[in-house]
Amino acid sequence: MKIAIIGGTGKEGKGLAYRWAKAGHKVTIGSRQFEKAQHIAEELNMEKQGIKPVSGLQNSDAAKQAELVVVTVPFAAHVATLETIKDAVQGKIVVDVTVPLVPPKVSTVHIPAAGSAAMEAQSVLGEDTRVVSAFQNVSYEKLMDDNAQISDVLVCGNDQAAKNLVLQLIDDAGMKGFDAGALQNSIVSEGMTSVLININKKFGVHSAGIKIIGLEE
Ligand SMILES: NC(=O)c1ccc[n+]([C@@H]2O[C@H](COP(=O)([O-])OP(=O)(O)OC[C@H]3O[C@@H](n4cnc5c(N)ncnc54)[C@H](OP(=O)(O)O)[C@@H]3O)[C@@H](O)[C@H]2O)c1
Repeated sequence: MKIAIIGGTGKEGKGLAYRWAKAGHKVTIGSRQFEKAQHIAEELNMEKQGIKPVSGLQNSDAAKQAELVVVTVPFAAHVATLETIKDAVQGKIVVDVTVPLVPPKVSTVHIPAAGSAAMEAQSVLGEDTRVVSAFQNVSYEKLMDDNAQISDVLVCGNDQAAKNLVLQLIDDAGMKGFDAGALQNSIVSEGMTSVLININKKFGVHSAGIKIIGLEE
């Protein structure tokens, strides 16, 4: 699948790019700067052997040529970034990874005016774009490490077919995804990140995650 990762030059986006390129997807890293996108794509291609080569483009061009678009930017840049890809993502699926953290209080849950970052994305992009929220609880360090025990992924969205596709991509990336209901529920996955940041601090770790249990019944 042709996947564009907007803000893919950052920590989380690069990690997801690696996982999907390793699974054979055609990944394009997006950036505000074309040269930076190309540089990070080349860096990833050199760093990880045997992956399908990753390319780099400016954000709106990356979104234009992709079948599915993933957004991994800081919350402060969320709306402004979405505006730059709005035209390019009409009719497509957008996977929003954004956590509405408000530094310096990143261990306190912040609820945006729209209800959640994902609801904000749906409102900016409009009803012709199918927004799915996922990956908020997956630490970038675990994404780059093939042997890591990695967090489960909660998937929220209002379009079942879009969620099913994202669940398949989660599987391809070597993680377990769970349909967590409507897009409105994304506030829980987004808020959980602040809870995990608290746990990281208490235990002196960087990458606490979540596991869903009780399914064997
Ligand atoms: N890091 C994690 O482990 C993790 C885990 C789960 C969820 N998340 C969420 O995923 C998102 C990305 O996290 P991250 O750690 O990857 O962030 P990051 O590395 O700080 O930033 C990601 C990219 O966003 C772009 N960006 C940064 N500031 C910007 C601005 N002011 N305006 C427009 N673009 C800007 C940059 O790309 P260019 O300069 O190339 O345009 C940057 O490389 C966040 O919402 C975060 O909460 C992160």
